Amino acid sequence: MCKIIINGGRRLDGSTAVQGAKNSVLPILAATVLADGECTVMGCPNLSDVNAAIEILEYLGCKVWREGSTVTVNPQAVSCADIPDSLMRKMRSSVTFLGAVTARCKRAKISSPGGCELGPRPIDLHIKALRELNISVTEHGGYTETFAENMRGADIHLDFPSVGATENAMLAAVTAKGTTTINNAAKEPEICDLEDFLKKMGAKISGAGTGVIKIEGTPKLHGAEHRVIPDRIAASTYLCAAAMAGGTLELTDVLPRHLNAVTAVLKDTGAEIRTKKNSMVLKASGRVRSIDTLRTMPYPGFPTDAQAPMTALLSVANGTSVIIENIFENRYKHCAQLCKMGADIKVNGRIAVICGVRELTGSTVCAQELRGGAALCIAGAAARGVTEISGVNYIERGYEDIVKDFSRLGVEIKKQIS
Ligand code: UD1
Repeated sequence: MCKIIINGGRRLDGSTAVQGAKNSVLPILAATVLADGECTVMGCPNLSDVNAAIEILEYLGCKVWREGSTVTVNPQAVSCADIPDSLMRKMRSSVTFLGAVTARCKRAKISSPGGCELGPRPIDLHIKALRELNISVTEHGGYTETFAENMRGADIHLDFPSVGATENAMLAAVTAKGTTTINNAAKEPEICDLEDFLKKMGAKISGAGTGVIKIEGTPKLHGAEHRVIPDRIAASTYLCAAAMAGGTLELTDVLPRHLNAVTAVLKDTGAEIRTKKNSMVLKASGRVRSIDTLRTMPYPGFPTDAQAPMTALLSVANGTSVIIENIFENRYKHCAQLCKMGADIKVNGRIAVICGVRELTGSTVCAQELRGGAALCIAGAAARGVTEISGVNYIERGYEDIVKDFSRLGVEIKKQIS
């Protein structure tokens, strides 16, 4: 069993570089199966989800090399279109392989990702979009199977701007015959990053970031080289940590423009933030201020992935704050754990009411999902006394080395394996 142990109450001071974006790397690695030559993806964080994506690529027949944060994929020998359940289960976003493998092999079979720790995570929007492209999709016995003998471009309208469904539609449509328009597409920076990579592979695609993506299908895509964008959620996590514990934090290798929704709220809580093109400094002073109502929304709204870190911060504000979680049904598991540390948070469905307390106290808590786990690290760093966090494997799905990063910033933190 692995635990993170934090002796909290120290300021966070110093500088840290932000890792590459997990949520960009995964669809980009899936996209490499579309190439007829070698692809090099730089800035891949060392995470279990990235390793799971590499395992899937190898299973499909790709040759994959990893050197530090650079992953090279040669997909020329792709021979398999079925992804076994054991690999699918390792990460939810393996569903992004559905569009790419279908486009490459004209068929695919994956086990359905099913529900997980954030509540039900259906893939109906993915399936609807693929069907629009004249792909036959059947679901039986826990499997989703596609056949795409005659894929063709189409007008797709997503009922909700799902990130994963937008990615799957892009990955399938880039090689479909004719023109595709994806309306109400997700606008997240990771969608723009995927578009950039696909363009480098020779795809004719434009509009990512606007909500309407246009694609002119090209039968063949070639190998390409790409560096993924910095991880805006890892950046948000560290900013919330410094805002809560106090101190001056510099982030380098970051794109502050991707963080506007988060920095606006951090400023409302009293943090001072200065940004440059690829770096930013947060200075925290005085008591955290409460905010009125914070709603999670699709980009450019406040990201659901930063909700848990922000909840930790607001738990020590000088008044009451309300959060409305609009994206996922069950994303407040961290609140009960924060309450064990002395927070006063009441959750009712999608709404959390956070009555700020003066300080949190160290306790034994359990991470039950990735960002909720990060929230516990943030809380532990600011709390008085010792916090022991189990469920470390969840946290490590999204952060390369949160223990090393926090430690470098002055937090008394260690990982204990027993
Ligand atoms: C991606 C991110 C995740 C982030 C989320 C929202 C990756 C690997 N993960 O997840 O970190 O929290 O975007 O920004 O990039 N939905 C349906 N039917 C579908 C698809 C989605 O009802 O077919 C619903 C989901 O249940 C959820 C909402 O739409 O309530 C948003 O999901 P989506 O944008 O698809 O998130 P993911 O791509 O899974």
